[in-house]
Amino acid sequence: MERHGVLVVGGGLAGLRAAVEAKLSGADVAVLSLVYPMRSHSVAAQGGINAALGNADPTDSWERHAFDTIKGADYLADQDAVEEYARDAIERVLELDRWGVPFSRTEDGRIAQRPFGGAAFPRTCYAADHTGHAVMHTLYQQSLRLGITFYDERVALKLVKEGERVVGVVAMNLRTGELESYAARAVVMATGGAGRIYARTTNSHHSTGFGMALAYWAGAPLEDMEFIQFHPTTLYGTNILISEAARGEGGVLLNNRGERFMARYAPEKMELAPRDIVARSIYREVLEGRGFEGEYVHLDITGLGEDRIMERLPQIWELALKFAGVDARYEPIPVQPGHHYTMGGIDTDKHGRTEVPGLYAAGECACVSVHGANRLGGNSLLECVVFGKRAGESASSDAASASDPPSGPFEEAEREVEAWIGRLVERGGEERAENPYHLRAEMQRVMWEKVGIFRDEEGLSAAVAELKSIRKRYWEGAGVRSGGKTFNVALYDALATGGMIDVALAVASGALARRESRGAHYRTDYPRRDDENWLKHTLARFTPDGPVLEYRPVVITRWPPRERKY
Ligand code: FUM
Repeated sequence: MERHGVLVVGGGLAGLRAAVEAKLSGADVAVLSLVYPMRSHSVAAQGGINAALGNADPTDSWERHAFDTIKGADYLADQDAVEEYARDAIERVLELDRWGVPFSRTEDGRIAQRPFGGAAFPRTCYAADHTGHAVMHTLYQQSLRLGITFYDERVALKLVKEGERVVGVVAMNLRTGELESYAARAVVMATGGAGRIYARTTNSHHSTGFGMALAYWAGAPLEDMEFIQFHPTTLYGTNILISEAARGEGGVLLNNRGERFMARYAPEKMELAPRDIVARSIYREVLEGRGFEGEYVHLDITGLGEDRIMERLPQIWELALKFAGVDARYEPIPVQPGHHYTMGGIDTDKHGRTEVPGLYAAGECACVSVHGANRLGGNSLLECVVFGKRAGESASSDAASASDPPSGPFEEAEREVEAWIGRLVERGGEERAENPYHLRAEMQRVMWEKVGIFRDEEGLSAAVAELKSIRKRYWEGAGVRSGGKTFNVALYDALATGGMIDVALAVASGALARRESRGAHYRTDYPRRDDENWLKHTLARFTPDGPVLEYRPVVITRWPPRERKY
C-alpha cells in the first residue's frame, strides 16, 4: 500500500494546482491520474482565463468581474465566494505568468485580454486559442520541479473510509489490471466534469463524472447538478469545441437567411451574450427552420482576415479544416450547441472542504458555488487555479494534524471492488448480459433528448424513469466480455458507467424538481425565474433508489437579484 499525506485524484489543472500548493505548504503529495497529466481534459480549454487585470481597459475591476459572474450565473452563485474568487483571480493569473505561461501579449508587453460572453470588459487572458494547453504545461513543469509523486494511468474505484473519515482510495492500475490501495490523511478529488453523460459534448472521453459518483457514494452531496452548460458553438458532426474566442475576436452567427439572428435575442451583447442565451437562440433558430440541414447555424470569422485568424485562432482554423473540411479563412464554420460544462458538482466550501472529513474537491467536479446557473466563459480555468490552490492548502493543513490511516478498511474496500469487477467479468460470458456500452448510449440519448437545452415535466419524468431502469439493468445484468488485465478499457468503461448513471440521475432529478427557468436550466413549462421559491441550491444525497433532494439558501452579499438583460 502506498501512503502519502495528501492524495490528489486527477491530474488536470485543478489537481495540479492543488498538488503544487499542498507541496509548497510542506505536505508529502501524490497525484493519481487516469491519464498522463498532459492528456487531461484541461488541455482542451481554448479561449482563456478571466482576471480583471485592466490591461485592455483600466476601468475594469475585480468587483465588475464579480458582478458579471453573478449576473451570468442568474443570481444562483454564492456571492461571498464569487467576491473572493474575482479578487484572487488577479494574483493567480499573475502567478501563472511568473511561473512561465506563454500568454499572448499587448504591444507594450502586458498580458493581452479579449472580450468574452457576458463580460463588461475585455477580461479574458489567453495564449492564442490553446490557453489550457499552455497553462497545463506550466503547472506540470512546476509539479515535476517540486518532486510531486505521480501515479499515472490509475483509475480510482472507491473512496475508502474509516468510520466517517475518508482515508484513501482503491484504484486499478490500468497497465497491470491490479487493484492498488493508496492511503492518505487527506484526499482531494479533482476529476473533472461529467460531459460524457450526454450524447453531444465537447468533453473528452474521460470526462465521465465518475469521480463525482465516488464522492457521492461516499456520502458527499452533489450540488446544483441540474445546471448543465451547453456551449453554443461546437463543430457540427463531432461537437469539438469552437471557442467563444472566435466570437470574442469578431466572429458572427448567421442563420440560413444570412441574418445575424442574435439581434433578436440579445440586442446589446449580440454574439457575446452569456452561453445559455446564445445556445438557446441557436437551438430555436434551428427548431424554427432557420438552420442548415435542420441541424446547425454558421459561425463566420472570415471578416477577421487571414492574419488575425492565424495569429489568434490557429487551432480553431485547424480543427474546422481537419474535422469538417472547412477553411474558416474563406467559409463559415457549421456549429451547433453541445454539452460543455457541469456547473454543479461535489458540494464544497470556499476552501475545498466537503462535508465528509478527509475529503476535498476542486475544479469542475466540485461546486463552490461560483458559477450558479450558468458559468461565464473564461471562468473555468480560473476556478481550477483559485480553488485548486485553496483545496491544496486546506488538505495540507488538515493533514498535518490528522493521524495515519490503518490498513483494515483498505482490505475490506479491495474485496468490495474485486466483487464488483468479478460480477462484471463473470456475467460477460452470458448470452443475455447487458452490454455497458449500450446502456451508456441509452443514458446519453435520454440525457440529450429529455434533459437538454429545453426541458419539461413530461420529458424529465420520463428521463428519471428511464434512467432508473437503465440503473437496474446495469447493476443486475451488465457484463464485460474480457477479464484481460492490460489496459482493459472495456472493463474500466463498464465500471465508470455505473457511476455515470447515478450522476445522470442526480441531474435529471434536480431538473424535474426545479419548476422554474434559471440560467442553463430552461423549463418550457415554467419559463420564468422564480426567486420566491427557487433562489436556492439543490443538494442531492445518494440512495440506490435515486437521489434525495435538499435545498440551501443562496448567499447574497451586495447584488440583490435583478432581471437579467443583455
Ligand atoms: O469557448 C471557450 O473557449 C471555452 C472557454 C470556457 O469554457 O471557459
